Amino acid sequence: MFGRLAMLFPVLLTCAVLVAGCGGGDESTGGGGSGGSAGSTEGAKVIDPASMNDAKGTVKFCQGKDTTGAVAALKKNFNEKFADQGLKMEFVEFPASADEQRNQFIQRQQAKSGDCDLFGSDVIWTAEFAQQKWLYDLTPYMEKRKSEFLPAPLQTLDYDGKLWGAPLNTDASFIYYRDDKVDQVPATWQELYSSAAKGGGIVFQGAAYEGLTCDWLELAFAAGGTVLSENGKKATIDSPENVKATQLMMDVVKDGGAPKAVTTYMEPESLTAFQTGKYTYMRNWPYAYALNEKADKVKGKFKVAPLPKFEGGDQAQILGGADLVISAYSKNPGGALALLDYMSGPEHQKLLASKFSLGPILDETYDDPAVKKALPFSAELKQAVSKAHARPVSPVYPQISQAIYKNVNQALAGQMSAEDAMKQAQSDIEKALSTF
Ligand code: GLC
Repeated sequence: MFGRLAMLFPVLLTCAVLVAGCGGGDESTGGGGSGGSAGSTEGAKVIDPASMNDAKGTVKFCQGKDTTGAVAALKKNFNEKFADQGLKMEFVEFPASADEQRNQFIQRQQAKSGDCDLFGSDVIWTAEFAQQKWLYDLTPYMEKRKSEFLPAPLQTLDYDGKLWGAPLNTDASFIYYRDDKVDQVPATWQELYSSAAKGGGIVFQGAAYEGLTCDWLELAFAAGGTVLSENGKKATIDSPENVKATQLMMDVVKDGGAPKAVTTYMEPESLTAFQTGKYTYMRNWPYAYALNEKADKVKGKFKVAPLPKFEGGDQAQILGGADLVISAYSKNPGGALALLDYMSGPEHQKLLASKFSLGPILDETYDDPAVKKALPFSAELKQAVSKAHARPVSPVYPQISQAIYKNVNQALAGQMSAEDAMKQAQSDIEKALSTF
């Protein structure tokens, strides 16, 4: 079974040393990402920490859809603060889907375009992008700030012995529940799903994309399943534990505990569904908290609880979140560093946590009374992040994730049995592993 991020880190390093295209994409999904020299990040551009001091001009910040409004607030604050210096940011908005964001960034980097000076990059991509030499090495800047950050998000930036960005926000998922309808979230996934099927209903992310991989891994790891062998070289997904986890997820859709449409839901669709007031439960990341507080039909009527256990098994969370990375093709790396410095600093982190319920990456933000009040589950979040499992670490992670979400999605849609879904995923992953 995959251990904590800390235990996995040597595997990530191994991938750095041994292979080309860590996390390299799959042409069939437009993933791209192949090419580049094997392993080493030698020759990557290195940031000059002093370059941010008198930075001027425009910085283009690329990130997924601003569903929370946090980027709009950032733009206002940053542009006011840095107007006298002659520095301003522009937002280049990418789609909501994590896979699509990756594709958009890869297309720009392959074209050596300066479209994104700073990129809000999912924690699972940093190593891949660094390996492609698409990023500035930020070690000289980060060395001085290292002790400010929570260890888990910081570790997602560590590749080939260097730090390739700064953390922006950290994620671990929770169960949102209507406390006007139920007293608490049942202790196991089995009980939760059966409560949902008895009438409450649950929504989660079942579409064929990265989000479903996260949702499924939470069940599979909790059931005792694994995806790869400890050394990352063998597929281990076709196991009785994983069949059990898949079957459980399929049953909640079949029994009507989750709507059939869940097989098309990403985060925004599941949130919209929960906010209709129809469902008792929702699996989602912390960002949903502040948005629910503004939604007429659910505000004041919901709470947040840690994920349940798998019956006879454990509880497992997946580490999510975003990192800030500077494009090697930026024409304004000093400006990008000034923006990164501001976004990963105390003022913006406090705003992200207290107004937009995005998981802070600075230790000190968790101690702030305003944050504790606005984010009542901040202590649980900090704990969840520290225990969270990394997603399988492999040079071909995007293909592995695709093997999971494609087959599990078909199973949820009733087009495949749980056994066949795991068999097919096993063969897809074996195929992906054989390419390096
Ligand atoms: C959230 C997480 C990210 C994950 C994505 C999946 O944005 O922060 O790590 O990959 O959801 O949809």
